[in-house]
Amino acid sequence: MDFALTQEHEMIREAARKFGEQEILPGLAERDRAHESDPAVLKKMGESGLLGVCIPEKYEGMGADYISLGLACEELERADSTARVVMSVHVGLQSMTLMQWATEEQKQRWLPDLASGRRIGGFGLTEPNAGSDAAHISTRAEKSGDHYILNGEKTWISLADYADQFLVVAVTDPTASTPTKGMSAFIVDRTTPGFSSRPLKGKLGVRAGNTGQIFFENCPIPAENLVGGEGNGFKIAMSALDHGRYTVAAGAVGIITACLDASVRYANDRKVGGEAIGRKQLVQQMIASMVQGREIGRLLYQKVGWMKNQGLRHTREVSLAKWNNCAAAFDAANKAVEIHGAYGFSDEFPVERHFRNSRGAMIYEGTHEIHTLMQAEYELGYRTDRPLDHSLPAWPFE
Ligand code: CAA
Repeated sequence: MDFALTQEHEMIREAARKFGEQEILPGLAERDRAHESDPAVLKKMGESGLLGVCIPEKYEGMGADYISLGLACEELERADSTARVVMSVHVGLQSMTLMQWATEEQKQRWLPDLASGRRIGGFGLTEPNAGSDAAHISTRAEKSGDHYILNGEKTWISLADYADQFLVVAVTDPTASTPTKGMSAFIVDRTTPGFSSRPLKGKLGVRAGNTGQIFFENCPIPAENLVGGEGNGFKIAMSALDHGRYTVAAGAVGIITACLDASVRYANDRKVGGEAIGRKQLVQQMIASMVQGREIGRLLYQKVGWMKNQGLRHTREVSLAKWNNCAAAFDAANKAVEIHGAYGFSDEFPVERHFRNSRGAMIYEGTHEIHTLMQAEYELGYRTDRPLDHSLPAWPFE
């Protein structure tokens, strides 16, 4: 067993940290307050290479391993959740899912543009009436000659207004023996006639990021945009979540680190009765608990990164990491607000933003309750992970 990070890992971690400090943090508090996203960040993320971090070099990616992706997400979310959300949907939910399921021809068609950030990718599963119950979506794709006609809507879609293409899951066979067998996945270009998007306003967190709804009205989708064959849409969605949840779990550790950075600084500076509040045992208890969250969280997500590198199925392990780490991040952010007292209640300090952002991560990519149930079902023997027919390519890449 080797816990050491390689030179390449350290280099990517450092690059992501600098990107967060230099490209995300300036002006962020104002954008967050105004609920304004900055699409220029997407372009800069593409230019930095981060959008292709774990995509093979033959598709214009950096060719680094999946632990590198986790490290990048950790460092980006240390600045703000919005940057990590981009990694989650663009790299995790779309590019890695294409790496796992697309034909070689489709990979050559889509991955280089995604890895370089020339095009931005999104993901469409959730609908107004189907969130946790992903098997009961109603967006419909009907075959018509060499096209599918797509009708329906998706909601809570990150980058709804900016992504150039979405990996969309729709029902192709409503008469299938179970709903999960009647779904298929497609790449939908935003220039498709009948496609439209609308931003969602009034979010509790991730306010400097774009989230919205996407609508399909008789959208003609070329049959060559079908990914993974008809009937595999649910499996594709679930394997996309294996990648998305990994990025969320890693990012949560970044939130804990940011909260620790701010709290340690504040606890050393703030004096009560002439003594730093860091000397108070109740403050120390909170700091210690945040350290515990950070260290356990890092072990959990890096184990998943290692499993991805080996090409092993990791649905159970990534659910555990996402479940644990998001709860630990919310707890750390809550404690950081507590340590900051009234200042923690103000956007003068970053901890209230992390508090709001970390709450969202306990809902998206599988709610806290869904992961609780999954963990219990695995342990009780009601749920098992069989090896997959289509695995994410192991690292090093061929
Ligand atoms: N990879 C590949 N195949 C998988 C898989 C995976 N990770 N997980 C399941 N499958 C396969 C199963 O093997 C099974 O195949 P067979 O029929 O051949 O046996 C099939 O898919 C059905 O699987 P399950 O029986 O496990 O399905 P289920 O109905 O029990 O799933 C659930 C229930 C786990 C709760 C699932 O519905 C779920 O995870 N729900 C949460 C959805 C979610 O996380 N939504 C988040 C939306 S995305 C988002 O938030 C993005 C954003 O931008 C913010």
